Amino acid sequence: MQERVLPISVRQLNDPFVKSAHVHNYRCRSAFKLLEIDDKYKLLKPGFNVIDCGAAPGAWSQIAVHRVNSTGANGESPRGTVVGIDLLHIAPLDGAHFLSNHDITDPVTLAKLLELLPGAQPHVIMSDMAPNASGFKEMDHEKLITMSLIDLAEKVLQTGGSLICKYWDGALAHQLQQKLSAVFRDVRTVNPKASRKETSVVFPCPVVQKK
Ligand SMILES: C[S@@+](CC[C@H](N)C(=O)[O-])C[C@H]1O[C@@H](n2cnc3c(N)ncnc32)[C@H](O)[C@@H]1O
Repeated sequence: MQERVLPISVRQLNDPFVKSAHVHNYRCRSAFKLLEIDDKYKLLKPGFNVIDCGAAPGAWSQIAVHRVNSTGANGESPRGTVVGIDLLHIAPLDGAHFLSNHDITDPVTLAKLLELLPGAQPHVIMSDMAPNASGFKEMDHEKLITMSLIDLAEKVLQTGGSLICKYWDGALAHQLQQKLSAVFRDVRTVNPKASRKETSVVFPCPVVQKK
């Protein structure tokens, strides 16, 4: 079946999540994906330390900052930490530390990430990272970022901590599910309403807890 992709401007004009993102001052519509996941599974709690992989432009970090209370806006609740990382530049956000122009698959990045996290063991790692190329290379990149993410979670996530990550329902899905089940208990798959519908690809987002 041929993929139907609308021109970006028309698509955005017609998209209720784009309109709502403006109203709520979110940096992009993907905020609603994380809101839906977290409203359902309650993974982000005040006082938690969070790593946001592929954080630009910063909408997931905005949600995390609010939910883990990393600005200390709620004086009655514990204060958490949010560290975001991306290949691109991420504009500063109150309550978050950003590592712009860093690659999650680069081992040097890990040491820098941990320096920014108190106790060095995050409660939650989340990733909305997307492959950036097309064709065969896209699959290689998907594999690289997803496996790097599971590797990161295995190394640093606290026991009982959560990983929220996007993956593609394609050739690697089975291999990925096997790997996730080996490291995590409670692997759940959600397909948030805010995921774009007009392509033939689906973007399930597993939510998992470390064994
Ligand atoms: C869909 S966007 C993320 C949107 C973000 N969750 C938000 O709410 O603003 C995907 C991001 O993943 C980043 N990315 C892809 N591969 C990466 C890598 N290897 N290391 C770090 N970031 C990466 C891209 O640069 C892109 O900014």
